[in-house]
Amino acid sequence: MKEKFISIEEAMKKGKGKVAVRGWIHRERGSNKIKFIVLRDASEIIQIVLERKDFEKQWKDIDKLQVESSLKIIGDIKKDKRAPNGYEIKAKKIEIVGLSENFPINKSLNEELLGDRRHLWLRSRKMSAVMKIRSTVTGALHEYFRGKGFYEFQSPIIIPGGAEEGPTLFEVNYFGEKLYLTQTWQLYAEAAMYGLEKLYCVAPSFRAEKSKTSRHLTEYWHTEMEVAWIGLDELMDYGEEMIKFVVSKVLKENKKELEFLGRDVKKLQIVLKKKFPRFTYDEVLKILEKKKKIKVPWGKDLRTIEEEKLMELYDTPIFVTHYPKEVMAFYKPRDEKNPKTARCFDMLAPEANGELVGGSERDTNIEELKKSLKAKGEKLKDYQYYFDIHSYGAIPHAGYGLGTERLIKWICGLDTVKDAIGFPRTMTRWKP
Ligand code: 4AD
Repeated sequence: MKEKFISIEEAMKKGKGKVAVRGWIHRERGSNKIKFIVLRDASEIIQIVLERKDFEKQWKDIDKLQVESSLKIIGDIKKDKRAPNGYEIKAKKIEIVGLSENFPINKSLNEELLGDRRHLWLRSRKMSAVMKIRSTVTGALHEYFRGKGFYEFQSPIIIPGGAEEGPTLFEVNYFGEKLYLTQTWQLYAEAAMYGLEKLYCVAPSFRAEKSKTSRHLTEYWHTEMEVAWIGLDELMDYGEEMIKFVVSKVLKENKKELEFLGRDVKKLQIVLKKKFPRFTYDEVLKILEKKKKIKVPWGKDLRTIEEEKLMELYDTPIFVTHYPKEVMAFYKPRDEKNPKTARCFDMLAPEANGELVGGSERDTNIEELKKSLKAKGEKLKDYQYYFDIHSYGAIPHAGYGLGTERLIKWICGLDTVKDAIGFPRTMTRWKP
């Protein structure tokens, strides 16, 4: 077939006359005289009708076609209320491109079996819808930061030491040397910040966390940023603006996908209209006690259950600032006005989606950094380069990291981050 092929969506826009489309069989039914095939391509699905009288020579092959066989079709398109998408193509020519065996995906499969067959499940309309939204999200993140004058900066994936929590590092046997997979771009970005001032990345981070939750992956895409000369308030302004930018892009570009996923878009629209509330950790403890009858002892990080209870009170993300210094990463500086706390924030998402973003000002006081690292049992020699970075013209600076899959999970209304990425990696899932 030498025809000019168009997407099913384009064919539906054309609405009448001759069209040439190609794709995979999504569903099929019929009799000895007539066959109805729902054809799928990346853009849409459409019903194709084939009558035996027009295909007497090919009928034996057509009759054997199974779900996921690939086809080229030339025919006439017209509106038909009975067809799944309101359009139907009456086929005039068919070319069978690739036959399919009995496709091993069906509604009865549980999460584990779908995980084993992820390479095939990825073709499902649900996964395609999520992947399209994911593409909008990552594209919007790049667009947001570039639009604000940020440079994209890449840091190494293989690193000699930690940053967040030593025990959650994956080891790499590097020619006999014990090295690790990165958990964050941050420490290298701080070095580059002295040359670029505003920088960002969207890159993989690795966490050997033994958490089997709906929010943890062992390999996730981490959107991080670092900015010179700013403090906590401006940092949170960036975080809020970034989330609103991404959500508004998805609302504009992915109406169809959100609808397919059954997402209540009002819950996203409201986020664009309101300012995200900002509370200190101390205030949050009071809110939890007063409104949810939960007493968190001062000094403990908030647990998932506490975050979820808190977020029942809000319909937009909120910021929680000034967590207890002792339970925070070593680079988060002490707040001088309230020395038991650090100048940091977490952004929590509504609808029980937990922590989306974590960020802070950065400590440039080398003695304080050493004290914090020692308290955490880290080896100071691994951080010599980090002390060096802040030994030559240190300035105030701040940055944050966003869990890209967590944002996608929330936007799409998914049950788990595993469905926000093509091939998830968790403690128990590393193949295909
Ligand atoms: O709060 P975290 O650990 O912060 C950092 O890594 C900082 N160095 C970032 C920075 O300031 N540049 O991680 C940041 C975010 C979290 O808020 C969460 O959304 C996500 O990364 N995240 C995970 N997402 C999926 N699976 C995991 N195991 C995650 N761990 C953290």
